Amino acid sequence: MYYSEEIIEEVRIENDIVDVVSEYIQLKKKGSSYFGLCPFHNESTPSFSVSPDKQMYYCFGCGAGGNVLSFLMQMENYDFVEAVKYLAARAHVMLPEPEYSQEAKKHFLLKEQLFSIHKEAAKYFYYNLYSERGTAALEYLEKRKTNLEVQKTFGLGYSNITAYDLYKYLRHKGYEDEVLMQSGLINTSKKSQGYMDRFWNRLMFPIFDVHGRIIGFGGRTIGEGEPKYLNSPETTLFHKGKNLYGLHLARVSRKQQILMVEGYMDVISLYQAGFHNVVATLGTACTSDQGRLLRKYASEVVIIYDSDEAGINASLRAIPILVSAGLTVRVLQISEGKDPDEYIKQKGRDAFEQALQQSKSHINFQVDVLAKKFDLHNTEQKVTFTTEVAKILAKLSSAIEQDAYMKQIAKDTSLSENAIQIEIGKMMQREVKMPKPPSKPVAYVKNYSTSKGFGHIQKNMGQRGIIEAQKNLIYLLATNPVVYEKVGAVLSPDDFLDDFFQRAATLIFAYNEKRQTIHPAEVVNSFVELEEQKLIAQIFNGQPEYKSGQALEKAVNDQVKLIKRHRIDIKARTSTDIEELQKLIEEKRRLENLYILFTDG
Ligand code: GTP
Ligand code: MN
Repeated sequence: MYYSEEIIEEVRIENDIVDVVSEYIQLKKKGSSYFGLCPFHNESTPSFSVSPDKQMYYCFGCGAGGNVLSFLMQMENYDFVEAVKYLAARAHVMLPEPEYSQEAKKHFLLKEQLFSIHKEAAKYFYYNLYSERGTAALEYLEKRKTNLEVQKTFGLGYSNITAYDLYKYLRHKGYEDEVLMQSGLINTSKKSQGYMDRFWNRLMFPIFDVHGRIIGFGGRTIGEGEPKYLNSPETTLFHKGKNLYGLHLARVSRKQQILMVEGYMDVISLYQAGFHNVVATLGTACTSDQGRLLRKYASEVVIIYDSDEAGINASLRAIPILVSAGLTVRVLQISEGKDPDEYIKQKGRDAFEQALQQSKSHINFQVDVLAKKFDLHNTEQKVTFTTEVAKILAKLSSAIEQDAYMKQIAKDTSLSENAIQIEIGKMMQREVKMPKPPSKPVAYVKNYSTSKGFGHIQKNMGQRGIIEAQKNLIYLLATNPVVYEKVGAVLSPDDFLDDFFQRAATLIFAYNEKRQTIHPAEVVNSFVELEEQKLIAQIFNGQPEYKSGQALEKAVNDQVKLIKRHRIDIKARTSTDIEELQKLIEEKRRLENLYILFTDG
């Protein structure tokens, strides 16, 4: 982590959660809490609660929850450090400066300068577009039915017909030739033995990074001319294969699905039609960097490339890259119109929405493309086709998926299920299986439902009851001193079975040892991942109330035994040491006789 616990806690305390949440949604006071419509799922009656005492939020509808940092992470898609920075700035808390080397400082300053040059350039192009000199460019945009609002959202502009304008403007703003050359916006000119603009007489598309900072430009000819699109060269700021056009907008659209198109105009047209979850690879091959970048913000990608052969081939190349980034990949082939931009202008948004429903899983897409290449009435071709289909299916890591696709493909293509199966068997022996996709960095997970939220933990532990027992015990240990007094001696953090619960228990035990008051919102600080913060929020919300001391005593005893028994069983299953096994059996026997009395005597 970048910052000390103290500074993070200071940032948290200085930002009252009710104030921060109120900047996003309307809250109404009810009892000791505030309620509003949950921003993380669709609802018509408020189940989103914010507690000023606990400094926590919790949604009774979808289970979202955490402290003020979690809220910003979930709302703005920030990671933990970004959320700390944002809230520090909001409350005017000075964050300590990290120590930079001389070299790093120079690099940092250069980048800062390049960012401001790009910003100035974008302002300049933007100003041009709406001045007299931009008339033709603006007419062109109107011809392409791009409305003013969207022009502004994407910061469109125009580079003037004379080739030195931007250079002069940036010089006038005080930038030196050397840094201007590094921006990629200025070239040396042999003819005039001086400097000249890279872009002139073009419609200008600023290219943003994920945080919305301009890092490069694309320029389109107005009408005819070569090249149709001219882009910024690779610079300190701009690395083509590491960015996706439109991602700064798509990531805040809060959709688990992202549409991936080829060009600038496709993004802009879809955005204008209300599809804000759209990015473009800008005509180049999709890279694994782009795959990983997407995976931070979404779980599913729909590839919607041009409907020509080049588009199909580009889709086929993108599929394995995106799959190995851990994304669910679908493909939509546009039937009418060359690209999404043309399609949506001809057919409208509803038709596009419907087409989107018809997108195919990448497996079906690959099989369909293959099927077109073979004549299935010809036995030899049918055999080759079967092998090719098996090749595709062999790459699937899940046997269940493999089986389901096999059945469906056999039905659709008149191939024999058995024959595919045999081919897959051969492949699996020969081929190295695709590596398992990395799991999604949870800090960015957006839409959970209560049951899904525990997915990774559930898998590790098997039983839901054990999760509930651990949540309830941690809650009781944190909030009921009697429980800690009685149980603390019998139970240890190591008895908890998942890394998350172990860390939570260790914290709660430590607080108890120091006899410190436990603030749930402070506990959350110790977890940088949003999913874990949410679990902490769930622990401190919605736990069962016990009607009597006896009921509490019984529940705690049951829970302690359940957890300990489970831990012993797991150990016994993996242990090969006889002595250890005997110890475990003895421990289990003693456990059955254990009963923790809450009332003395
Ligand atoms: P419009 O004709 O404006 O609708 O463009 P388009 O987006 O339909 O373009 P196309 O399908 O031809 O290309 C898709 C993307 O590839 C573009 O948005 C550009 O990013 C890129 N591209 C197209 N032509 C060129 C070119 O001549 N040079 C470079 N560097 N990139 C290009
Ligand atoms: Mn087009």
